[in-house]
Amino acid sequence: MTVVIGTDDVARFRAAVGRRLGLHFDDGKLVFLADTLRQRLDATGRGCEAYVGSIEAGLATDEIGILARDLTVSETYFFRNIEQFRATAEVALPERIAARQGQKRLRLLSAGCASGDEAYSLGIVVTESAIDASWDVSIRAVDVNPSMLEKAVRAQYSTWALRETSAEVQRRWFRPEGRDVLLAEEARMRVRFEERNLAQDDPELWPPESYDIVFCRNVLMYLLPETAQRVIERITRSLVPGGFLFLGHAETLRGLSQSFHLRHTHGTFYYQRKERAELPGCTYAQAPSESTSETSPLVAAVDGADGWIDAIRRASERIESLARTPIGAQVRREVSPIDQPPRWDLGKALELLKNERFAAALDVVQAFPAEAAIDPEVLLLRAVLLTHGGSFAVAEDTCRRLLAIDELNAGAHYLMALCREAEGDREGAAEHDQAAAYLDPAFAMPRLHLGLLARRHGDRKTALQELDQALLLLQREDAPRLLLFGGGFGRETLIDLCRAEIVACGGQP
Ligand SMILES: C[S@@+](CC[C@H](N)C(=O)[O-])C[C@H]1O[C@@H](n2cnc3c(N)ncnc32)[C@H](O)[C@@H]1O
Repeated sequence: MTVVIGTDDVARFRAAVGRRLGLHFDDGKLVFLADTLRQRLDATGRGCEAYVGSIEAGLATDEIGILARDLTVSETYFFRNIEQFRATAEVALPERIAARQGQKRLRLLSAGCASGDEAYSLGIVVTESAIDASWDVSIRAVDVNPSMLEKAVRAQYSTWALRETSAEVQRRWFRPEGRDVLLAEEARMRVRFEERNLAQDDPELWPPESYDIVFCRNVLMYLLPETAQRVIERITRSLVPGGFLFLGHAETLRGLSQSFHLRHTHGTFYYQRKERAELPGCTYAQAPSESTSETSPLVAAVDGADGWIDAIRRASERIESLARTPIGAQVRREVSPIDQPPRWDLGKALELLKNERFAAALDVVQAFPAEAAIDPEVLLLRAVLLTHGGSFAVAEDTCRRLLAIDELNAGAHYLMALCREAEGDREGAAEHDQAAAYLDPAFAMPRLHLGLLARRHGDRKTALQELDQALLLLQREDAPRLLLFGGGFGRETLIDLCRAEIVACGGQP
């Protein structure tokens, strides 16, 4: 008999799954969740109340694995985003080998490894590297889905899993096994699989400052924001300073952490944990407790701030919301605790910016007290106004100061791109545009700028790709962000410009 379940039951089931596995399901997935819940009730013979209650209470440990099997996306393949494996082979491994000469030991982690393709790809990279045989190198691979881990241990794959693997690597490391392929023992022997739940605190999985390289790709995107934040905190504590973190190509640390440098090589972005000395007030290594958070002397400098990272994360959003609000209705005290007590008011400068009175707006910002020089939103607005006014050298200096506080600030990277271009540094400009576009995939202006740079350089293919993308994004771009970064042009003008450029490149707008 099919059990009848109501919307309240599904909502409770969603919350329980979020609590235990950290998985996020939006309303569009409610039917899928209802089907899964119904199947589990049928299979276990339990009533809805008892079943969901046991998940909530964390009593049904076997059921967690089954739910992980039924609810997670386990898509993966060997050498997925191959550029990240190149960066591992040519940057991350050599740097970590140099740093570990004393211990001759390297620890890698594949967090959310699914059927093991990623961990084994690392196994191949490590085995093909020039690491001396005397080194102790191991790759720990963890996932919450036991059926995927069973597959990983077998190391037998369909040829589809090798769709991004070169023929040469296939020949060297795989041998046919019926219609499938089997990975050679030499690439398997360093990899160890374990069933672990990233959503739960697990001191054994996260020893402080132990991993040299962590791959946690295409996992955060399925997690609740608070779980993703926790996972990043654990990874941060567990990575040795100078260690590397690779995320999926659509995932960023923007808004999640200030403990990393953004690295960009081999056409891909990844992160390197800052050295301890670069993290003022960081207490990760000394007190690796779950409640540890990064603090900075800057927090003390801004009375009542609820955390430096949060303050920085919201900086450009707050400017945008201020820009959106009619000037009379702006009460900075309500926007964020960072503004208590309000000591400088961006409202007047933003109103002047809206009226295209850039020089007057800059005068207002310049007249702020000295403490404002460390407020990320003041720095961003100042950099915008300086760029508008053509003072690129000072704008660049302001951007650098902002990036020193918040390396993952997409707006600052975009403004840096404009400044670099003004200096004739096309490559530097493109580099910053790419960083801005990676950090915030919805940000239209860096795409438009990349398109213009490519067209001027005669690279019509790249120009068309970027301009097409910019055209799409411009139509949805936030009005306040256009006000800040649109260079004084409105949406329609920018869209017209984009279309004209596409036509000039021989494309169809
Ligand atoms: C799309 S796969 C990514 C596989 C591989 N990292 C890649 O990028 O090709 C996502 C994996 O994350 C795992 N996962 C999701 N939530 C998890 C959790 N709370 N703990 C451990 N693994 C989790 C899923 O089981 C799934 O195997």
